[in-house]
Amino acid sequence: MTIHICKTYQDMSRRAADFMAAQITLKPDSVLGLATGSTPLGLYAELVKRCAGKQISFRSIRTVNLDEYCGLTPDDEQSYSYFMHRNLFDRVDIPKENVHLPDGSNPDAAAETARYDRLIESLGGIDLQLLGIGHDGHIGFNEPSDAFSVGTVKIRLTDSTVEANSRFFSSPEAVPEYAYSMGCRTILNAGRILLLANGSGKAGILEKALFGAVTPEVPASVLQLVSDKVTVVVDREAGEEILRKHPGAVTVE
Ligand code: GLP
Repeated sequence: MTIHICKTYQDMSRRAADFMAAQITLKPDSVLGLATGSTPLGLYAELVKRCAGKQISFRSIRTVNLDEYCGLTPDDEQSYSYFMHRNLFDRVDIPKENVHLPDGSNPDAAAETARYDRLIESLGGIDLQLLGIGHDGHIGFNEPSDAFSVGTVKIRLTDSTVEANSRFFSSPEAVPEYAYSMGCRTILNAGRILLLANGSGKAGILEKALFGAVTPEVPASVLQLVSDKVTVVVDREAGEEILRKHPGAVTVE
C-alpha cells in the first residue's frame, strides 16, 4: 500500500487526477468505479479541466458507481446519479450509455442487486476503483457490520452516516434510510484502488482502517487484504494520525 500525504486538498485532488488520467491514457476503455461525497469533488473538477484541455478523453470509458440511495429516482437532485451528472458526466465527453449506477428507484432489492452484479461482470470487472471513507469507516455504503459484504447489497444506513449526509438534505429525516451499495468483494476485485480522504475528521478512522484489525466493524479495513493494489492519497489533516503513529509508512509531499 502506498500512502501519500499531500499539503492541501487541492494537491490531493491533483495527485488523484494524475493517477486517474494515467489509467485513462494507458487504457482508454477502462472501467472506472466512481464515488460520491465531498471528497472527490476537487478530483472531478480537475478531470473536467483536463478533458476540456484535450489531455484526456472519456469517449470510451465506462463507469460504475459505488452506491445509490433507495427510493430516489435518477433525476432527484439528492440522488447520486444527479450528483455524478452535475459534477462529472455532463461536463466530460463520456457517452451517457457508458455510465452506470444502482437504480435506487427499483424497489425489488433482489432484482436490483443481482442486475448490478451482472452488469459489473459483463463489463469485465473494474480497472480502477475510487473510494472515499465514511466517519464510521464505511466504503461505498458498506456500513460497520458483523460480516463483509460480497456482491451488491441493500444496506440500512447508520445514524452516524445519516447525520453526516444530512448536510446535503433539508433535514436528517429527509435522508433515505436505505441504499444499494457495491459489495466489498467487488471493490477488492478491482485492478487498482485509489482511496482519498481529507480533513481532520477522517484522521482517526483512516489510521484505524489502514493499520488496525481487519474487521467488518471497520469496513475499509478490508483493503488491507489487497494492500499491494491500494494507493491512498490524503491531505495533511486526514493524514496526521498515520504520520504520528507510522511515520515510516508514508510519503509526505
Ligand atoms: C458517503 C458515500 C461514500 C463516501 C462517504 C464520505 O456516504 N456513500 O461513498 O465516500 O460517504 O463522504 P464525504 O466525502 O462527503 O466525506
